Parts: sequence; structure tokens; C-alpha cells
Amino acid sequence: MATSSKPLFDQFLMPIFERLIDREAILRLRQRIDWDTELPRFTNPQVAYPDYYTAHNFHGVKNGYLNIDAAITYDPITQYVLPPGETWVRESLVKAIQGQPRRILDLGCGTGSTTLPLKRRFPQAEVIGLDLSPQMLVMAADKAKAAQLDITFRHGNAAETGLPEASFDVVCMTLLFHETPPDVAKTILKESFRLLGPGGQVLILDGNQRTLRATDWLNQIFEEPFIRDYAQGNVEAWLGWAGFETVRSEDVFWLNQLSYGRKPISYPANAAPSPPTQTENPYAETSAQPA
Ligand SMILES: C[S@@+](CC[C@H](N)C(=O)[O-])C[C@H]1O[C@@H](n2cnc3c(N)ncnc32)[C@H](O)[C@@H]1O
Repeated sequence: MATSSKPLFDQFLMPIFERLIDREAILRLRQRIDWDTELPRFTNPQVAYPDYYTAHNFHGVKNGYLNIDAAITYDPITQYVLPPGETWVRESLVKAIQGQPRRILDLGCGTGSTTLPLKRRFPQAEVIGLDLSPQMLVMAADKAKAAQLDITFRHGNAAETGLPEASFDVVCMTLLFHETPPDVAKTILKESFRLLGPGGQVLILDGNQRTLRATDWLNQIFEEPFIRDYAQGNVEAWLGWAGFETVRSEDVFWLNQLSYGRKPISYPANAAPSPPTQTENPYAETSAQPA
């Protein structure tokens, strides 16, 4: 029997997505954005890309997220892969935030599809989205500007943000960990712990690890290089390892899960936070001011 050398993503999913997405609208978007002007605004030349990020394709896209095509097709495709509905799934994270946070950080914010709802729900809060892909950040800023939301988008590595200690009330991430090796996910949680003030909340919305373990065929089709390792792991255990308390997870429909934890109010003196300071590196921290 002849076998195709094409990845399963190209064989099965791309033909479906090609029927669902509006190619003309995507082309118009590509042409409307002045990429030559926008990309340098969201590129910090000091950011070093980790190997796992550049050495793999994600969802069949070469060069992963460092690619305009990945950025402009991300939203049209993602709307079909978050059952029972993208808005509902993302809102599960936004609604789980307690109190009135003053500073919120969305790590691996991508095109800002959770960052924007965060700002809408907490208009008084300073909201920052951080991502390794300038292309994704250009899209996020474009969406924030169109929605007249004042959000800062910053080029950086979630594992090593360079942001000041104890300077956030909420750190969250959506759909990030299934795309990072588990060791990187754990390092990102350690960094989140450092960034949160005492009592600060961490929230992680991602694929449901139990479901993914039971549906290995899904993992093959989506061409996600780290999703099997993610499925074998346990976000709650990683949160505990990073120092968070009151850790728990809940199912979000059957394909996703939301995990939470809090930074303890008091913790060992040698881990005590220093008072928040201004960000030292102003590079590539670009605010999407309302239009
Ligand atoms: C599947 S997308 C999720 C985007 C967005 N959070 C969402 O919910 O739609 C994963 C994103 O994580 C980013 N990413 C991966 N590793 C990262 C890291 N170490 N630091 C910052 N961003 C990272 C990618 O560039 C990509 O934009």
C-alpha cells in the first residue's frame, strides 16, 4: 500500500480548514497590515529564541510562529478547534479570576484572543501580553487597536521575561503548555511565581491532559511536537512544584482544562519579593493605543 510522506495535518486537517476559512479575507488582512513597519516595532533584538521554538513546525507551518502566514491564519483556524465554542472556552479563564487585579500578564498571548477579553473584563487593570513571535504580536496589537483597548504587547520569552519581581496580581496563559516541552512549562511556572505578588493568581487554560492521553489519534493529527509529552504530564503537579498553593483543575468541556493556583501570602524570606520597579528594558514593549 502506498503511503503519503505528507504529515497527517496536511493530509486530513488542511483540506478541511481550506474549505472553512475565507482565503480572500486572509489575503486582504495580509495586505492591509504594513508588516515592514509593524514587525520591527514588536521585535526585541535581544530576545534569543529557544531551540524547541525554532526547530519544529507547529500545525504544519514551517518556521512555526515566526511566520506571517502562521499569524494571519491562526484565528480563522483556532475558532474551529475549541469546542463547544472559542469564546466560551476562553471566558472560562477570564471568569475564574477573583477580585479586581491591577496588573495582568498573559504569557504566550499569541494574537491576543484571551488578552482582549481580559482587558474588557478588567478595564481598569494594566494588561500586558507577551509572546516570542513578533508576527503574532502584530496581529494582537491590530486587534486591540480595532477594539479600542489599551493593551501593551511585548516581545519576550515567558520562561525569562525580564519583568520585575512581584509586579503582577494575575499571570495567565492559554494554549501555551501543549506547545512547550514540559521542562519549559515548569520553568514558565517558576517565572510566573516570581512575577506574582503575595496571594497572586496563576491560571492555565490548555488541552485536557486526561482526554489527550485517551485520544492519541488527536495528537497525531494536529502536528504538535510536544503534545504527547504534555498529555503525559500533570499541570497541577507542576504548579505545586513551582511553589503554588490551593492548586486545582477543572474540565472545560471535554477537550480543555483550567488549572489555578495562588502564590502563598508568606513564603521563605530568601524568596521575598522586591517592590515593583519600572521595566528596565523599554525595547519592543509596544502599547496598542485605542484608535
Ligand atoms: C497555540 S498559541 C496560543 C496563543 C494564545 N495564547 C491563544 O490562546 O490563542 C502558542 C503561543 O505561544 C507562543 N510561545 C511559545 N513558547 C513561548 C515562550 N517560551 N515564550 C513566549 N511565547 C511563547 C507562540 O509564539 C504562540 O504565539
